[in-house]
Amino acid sequence: MDMEKLVALCRRRGFIFQSSEIYGGINGFWDYGPLGVELKKNVKDAWWHDMVHNPPPGPDGQEIAMVGVDCAVIMNPKVWEASGHVGGFEDYMVDCKKCRKRYRADKVFFEGEFTDENSSTPVEVLVVEANDSKEASKLLSAERERLIKKKKIPKNVIPGTGIPLPALGMPGGWKRPCPAPGCDGELTEARRFNLMFETYVGAVRDEENKAYLRPETAQGIFVNFRNVLDSTRLKLPFGIAQVGKAFRNEINPRNYTFRSREFEQMEIEFFCHPDESMKWYTYWRDVRISWYTKLGIQSDRLRPREQGKDELAHYSIGTTDVEYLFPFSEEPQELEGVAHRGAYDLTQHAKHSGKDLTYFDEEAWQRDASKYPDPKAAHEAKSKAPYRFIPHVIEPSAGADRFTLAVLCEAYTEDTIEGETRTVMRFHPRLAPIKAAILPLVNKEGMPDIAHRLYRELKAQFNVFYDDKGAIGRRYRRQDEAGTPWCITIDGDTLKDQTVTVRDRDTLKQWRVPFASLAEEMRKMLRPGT
Ligand code: GAP
Repeated sequence: MDMEKLVALCRRRGFIFQSSEIYGGINGFWDYGPLGVELKKNVKDAWWHDMVHNPPPGPDGQEIAMVGVDCAVIMNPKVWEASGHVGGFEDYMVDCKKCRKRYRADKVFFEGEFTDENSSTPVEVLVVEANDSKEASKLLSAERERLIKKKKIPKNVIPGTGIPLPALGMPGGWKRPCPAPGCDGELTEARRFNLMFETYVGAVRDEENKAYLRPETAQGIFVNFRNVLDSTRLKLPFGIAQVGKAFRNEINPRNYTFRSREFEQMEIEFFCHPDESMKWYTYWRDVRISWYTKLGIQSDRLRPREQGKDELAHYSIGTTDVEYLFPFSEEPQELEGVAHRGAYDLTQHAKHSGKDLTYFDEEAWQRDASKYPDPKAAHEAKSKAPYRFIPHVIEPSAGADRFTLAVLCEAYTEDTIEGETRTVMRFHPRLAPIKAAILPLVNKEGMPDIAHRLYRELKAQFNVFYDDKGAIGRRYRRQDEAGTPWCITIDGDTLKDQTVTVRDRDTLKQWRVPFASLAEEMRKMLRPGT
């Protein structure tokens, strides 16, 4: 699939626009248009329905307890000190001293070219910017070939291994050329850069009033752990979910909406007993992978990948990335991380806030209380494990924009019908922005009246669209591009037998459905799990 074609379609049909486009845009920010907002809303609604209101049964068939929260974007800055974001939420960046282009150091790959196997001094250092090592290796080979052709390096040169730019100095003091095509400038040493957006609360712009736009929704959940526990009757294990905006001042936003500076997350913090945490880690990993499959990511472009020990975030005991092979990269890229965060966050917030964020297992205590007849011993036993402890957390953390982008990539198809190429967005019906288009075959013989009546009836239940402009074939094509699963045509037979023609977007099959059962048929098509 050609990414440029998808981007053009998204703009032309109103899925995604560049933010502030009439002023030249702003890098890393995107707006969703009329079709895009419906698509992304359906993604978030499907997630909320399937994970919060109706999560699949647990590993032992038990009901999953899950509630939601909706927290402020700006929180007390101490939250971000406790979470480790103030001290460590950083990437390394490098700048070209000549063209001033800025890069994320781990996305710049370099390779020495040697004339002799034993030499440590390269005749040339090649540098490229890439999403991953596979893409880097392709780009480095192409660059090597180009230089050989131009006779800038010898034909029989021996390539070294392409690796990301080290944060601290190049091996043997090699130069650091800028990867921008045509630029012969040098890169600076890597510098640390904190990704949090800063702002000031109140009128005075000083250190004391500095605050941050949240870089993840997760911390709002952790700091409300006690509130949720005290205001509900939840018992472990249970989850708290949140969908909302997050902000990261990414050094180099890339690949359309994939890496943006403002995006939405769909996160669950699932609190459980430490002894059961591996069981729940496996459960959530499997649940999350199958959710994507059920929503139409059927292809082998989806894969789970267990992170290596050296990749793990400071808080994580284990993480599985759910990845999708986007058309812009050689290797699958992260859609979601399912992380085992252990007791890290609650421990940190307890330490920094001075509040008690432990959990007391009343059931276990009731079971064992008779073992502690002495009130002092009982009091002491109640204050520690196995009765009082900090729960462990499993965190499935998904990106609403990333999944929306994957849905767009997966849906984009070109096929040929009767010798004519059509572009069709094969969205899962639950995610499709418009569920059905109501089309009077011709604008006469009473058809528009009936079509309008049907439109009004269906509109109360589904997002449907009325279109009476142009030939029926052209109207079908417009709906195919919007990804509308069904076109409902009111034709000559409708006047006689109160039925309509339903055309399926993917199979192009047509069949007749009585008016009376249309809404029920649509509900069937939109049912979760189909
Ligand atoms: N609470 C854990 C956390 O935030 P993360 O891996 O940094 O983990 C989770 O982010 C998800 O948020 C990612 O898998 C991705 O889908 C989305 N995400 C992260 N950074 C993003 C960005 N710059 N643009 C779009 N989505 C992003």
